Amino acid sequence: MDTHISHSPEETFELGKAWGKVLPSGTLLGLSGDLGAGKTELVKGIALGLGSDARVHSPTFALLNEYHGGRLPLVHLDLYRLQSRGDVIQAGLEDYLRAPPGVTVAEWIERWFGAENPSLETAPSNLYRHVRFEVLNEFDRRIDYEDFGT
Ligand SMILES: Nc1ncnc2c1ncn2[C@@H]1O[C@H](COP(=O)(O)OP(=O)(O)O)[C@@H](O)[C@H]1O
Ligand SMILES: [Mg+2]
Repeated sequence: MDTHISHSPEETFELGKAWGKVLPSGTLLGLSGDLGAGKTELVKGIALGLGSDARVHSPTFALLNEYHGGRLPLVHLDLYRLQSRGDVIQAGLEDYLRAPPGVTVAEWIERWFGAENPSLETAPSNLYRHVRFEVLNEFDRRIDYEDFGT
């Protein structure tokens, strides 16, 4: 597991940008952490790193946004309003989590995993990066991340 302490929204954005430049096709990033932790800020950076000039906004009311024009498509899911894995399946989002196209990022990934071990979930051909945000104070965030799969 790696840890990045971010001291500003810009620093979180830059971390996402660096990831967006190099993540392979078929990557799922699962983000967890409180509202306002910086999950969407990270996704904005990922979009720019992929080379998309789209303006990322929170999909909380849309469940899913897709951004094109970059090196790979970016699929941005926000599972906040769903309660459980059953809800995720009902909403038609299961395929995005099991066989992520391009770079797929899911905020509130715990809605999907529940108490299960994230390492068991994605296909072996895919990369799964589990990312946990912790709010330390107004501007400091602890970002722990761990890769599973190739
Ligand atoms: N180090 C930091 N990283 C990310 N966001 C930060 C940081 N410090 C303060 N913020 C603020 O916290 C909020 C994060 O919002 P957002 O990314 O939408 O959170 P989430 O998607 O986790 O609910 C923004 O208002 C941002 O300016
Ligand atoms: Mg968000």
